[in-house]
Amino acid sequence: MTQSSTPPPTSKAPDAQPATRERTWTVLELLQWTTDYLKRNGVEGARLDAEVLLAHALSMSRLDLYVNYENTVSAVDRTTFRELVQKRAQQRIPVSLLLGEREFWSMKLTVTSDVLTPRPETELLVSTALDAMPDPDYAYRVLDLGTGSGAIALAIASERPNAIVTATDVSIFALKVARLNADKLQLCDRVRFLEGSLFAAVSDEVFDLVISNPPYVARAEQDALPRELSHEPELALFGGDDGYAVLKPLVSEVGAALNDGGLFLVELDPRQADTVASWCREAEMTSVKVLYDLSGHARVVSARHGSAGEGQKEKTDG
Ligand SMILES: C[S@@+](CC[C@H](N)C(=O)[O-])C[C@H]1O[C@@H](n2cnc3c(N)ncnc32)[C@H](O)[C@@H]1O
Repeated sequence: MTQSSTPPPTSKAPDAQPATRERTWTVLELLQWTTDYLKRNGVEGARLDAEVLLAHALSMSRLDLYVNYENTVSAVDRTTFRELVQKRAQQRIPVSLLLGEREFWSMKLTVTSDVLTPRPETELLVSTALDAMPDPDYAYRVLDLGTGSGAIALAIASERPNAIVTATDVSIFALKVARLNADKLQLCDRVRFLEGSLFAAVSDEVFDLVISNPPYVARAEQDALPRELSHEPELALFGGDDGYAVLKPLVSEVGAALNDGGLFLVELDPRQADTVASWCREAEMTSVKVLYDLSGHARVVSARHGSAGEGQKEKTDG
């Protein structure tokens, strides 16, 4: 970038200038133009996306953008940026997939089209789990079922150095990404990754915590989903026609995988919370609760297995 002596921006695209009258674009002008362009193409959070993509194209942080507002952007960097913006606007590829990474629980995770991009609301699952595992020295046995990028398992392993963490997924492609993330974060000797549907890979084992963000979107709602979701794996999104294809067996089988007093935490769609909570009660789980995310949506159901459940209540309540 160089210091700017730019003319005011025109309504033309950053790439639409005649070669003979090369105009310059400052960081701020590019951001303003791109925000407007993304908005016109129906992209939500257009300003944030423009900032993240421009910061990436310029190999700087978003904070650096703010102190470089008046600097001009080179033609080479503009080309890189323009390609990213076009993919975002036209193909609706999510920013996380354009960049190949997403931050979750302050960890930079690699994401590909083989895994669900970890969502901020899933941090509620992690914080609830950590509250329920207050002793950093205790070797809690934890199962993350449907690990995807490894987000939940790796967050727990990083926060509880003595926890014995197992992560399973039915997708070998997702597991490859999860292992890569474990490797990058130097946590590969802390998490055991296993392939299998539901509890198949751990059928003889019991855990203190079973935590899961399963696929829970109803296939019947597919047509109404944002286009961005078409870039994420169907296996990670859809729980059959009604959204319960994985949730239902998960609730009915989880008891056999939990110690007496063990905790089950599951993320779901807010509309599924009451149904799943009632299934947990029918399965004679105790301390059944619905937890709400920062937007006030029912997001997690929490339940204890067995008679020791009530005794453990204090820990769950934090
Ligand atoms: C919604 S994604 C969650 C990924 C990750 N845990 C997260 O929170 O970002 C659901 C994951 O469950 C996996 N999955 C789908 N059906 C499964 C099954 N029957 N047994 C185990 N994993 C399954 C998918 O491959 C996907 O990685």
